[in-house]
Amino acid sequence: MPSIHYQYTVDGDDFTLAGEASSALKQTLKLMNLDADIIRRCAIAMYEGEINMVIHANGGIIDVDIFPDKVVMVLTDHGPGIPDVPLAMQEGYSTAGEEVLNLGFGAGMGLPNMKRSSDEMHIDTSIGVGTTVTMTIYIRTI
Ligand SMILES: Nc1ncnc2c1ncn2[C@@H]1O[C@H](COP(=O)(O)OP(=O)(O)O)[C@@H](O)[C@H]1O
Ligand SMILES: [Mg+2]
Repeated sequence: MPSIHYQYTVDGDDFTLAGEASSALKQTLKLMNLDADIIRRCAIAMYEGEINMVIHANGGIIDVDIFPDKVVMVLTDHGPGIPDVPLAMQEGYSTAGEEVLNLGFGAGMGLPNMKRSSDEMHIDTSIGVGTTVTMTIYIRTI
């Protein structure tokens, strides 16, 4: 099945740029005339994942494939990894430090929101190696 592929680089050391990749994807999906609810869910899921890459993993790469029936987002970083995924998935759980909290991040709702916003989410993580989060959102055609 043909797909359109986009790749975004997420800078790890500039908090002011956090959210740029998800904004760019949102504009792209709007131009493609995707359903507003699909666009909203993709934007939320990718925004939270992108923020996590910036604040927890020193940035990374996001690959987005848009198929006729689904949008697949693969977020890859070479950060510290997530030691306990079920714990990290809990609402309100965060390891964010004071600096991150002062910037308004670190509410511990990112991963739960990513899970809620996507139809499928898979976390592949290895301590000291990095984390890959794959999220799929299905486009339901009428
Ligand atoms: N890409 C990542 N690399 C390493 N740790 C991560 C990553 N994403 C999430 N985490 C860990 O999972 C926790 C929960 O993430 P999240 O729900 O987004 O909350 P928050 O980002 O507000 O801390 C984070 O505090 C962090 O410890
Ligand atoms: Mg987060």
